[in-house]
Amino acid sequence: MPNDLATLAWLVEMGADEAIADAPVDRLAAAPAAPSRPASAAPAVPVAPDPAPPRLAAPAPPADTIPAGLAAAGGAEAAASARALAAAAGSLAELEAAVRRFDGCSLKVTATSTVFSDGVPGSRVMLVGEAPGADEDRQGKPFVGISGQLLDRMLGWIGLDRASNVYIANVIYWRPPGNRPPTTAEVAACLPFIQRQIELASPEILVLLGASAAQALLGTTGGIGRLRGRWHDYILPSGRSLQTIATFHPAYLLRSPGQKRESWRDLLTIKNKLSVGTN
Ligand code: URA
Repeated sequence: MPNDLATLAWLVEMGADEAIADAPVDRLAAAPAAPSRPASAAPAVPVAPDPAPPRLAAPAPPADTIPAGLAAAGGAEAAASARALAAAAGSLAELEAAVRRFDGCSLKVTATSTVFSDGVPGSRVMLVGEAPGADEDRQGKPFVGISGQLLDRMLGWIGLDRASNVYIANVIYWRPPGNRPPTTAEVAACLPFIQRQIELASPEILVLLGASAAQALLGTTGGIGRLRGRWHDYILPSGRSLQTIATFHPAYLLRSPGQKRESWRDLLTIKNKLSVGTN
């Protein structure tokens, strides 16, 4: 029994902190046994190798929208495939179908859901967070857990509401095990999709929640303390520039409530921009 507990503790530490099916699967037993040939058998007739399996993607378009550091981190091939799939999507529905078909991000294997979006596409404001957590993975929607509840309250203070005038997504579409931060390769594999999602949703204002989303989309390594609270020009793959602001992630505000004052300033900056846009 103590060994079972130690194994459980080790699994949780490794990020396997949730059951993803009702019954366990012994994947070693499920794997087909390697064919064995008796020592005396006749030498095998040489067989031509199988043709290469079909590639997921068409030839990659220029790698102009992936920060070089990310592409070099091992996600380059998946990112090229993602870029081709994303570029071919002519609507959010087509893009969502492409994301669901995409197998270039290994997080998909351990996640229960593909978390694509919530809210109203075409809203003046689009929010982008980091990656789904356990609640989002269960419900298949971004920001539905405790940090999402804080986010909803913050949006309400400035007259925004995901049921009517905000569109929400994440840089990463699948929950990283144990809520660990996504790797650079995982970000690189998903980035073309979120870039295209922003382009297709066509908001007037983009709000990046937390350092991870801000760094991935603004292509910088700067900390959130320096990036937040001011307007950036985010250049879409099409070349269009989009007014973008970064602010603290609501999960960070739950841990550091002292920062809510700065966050409130950012919300007012967004509100002012929206009211200028309607005058
Ligand atoms: N944190 C995020 O960045 N996104 C979610 O959807 C939930 C928590």
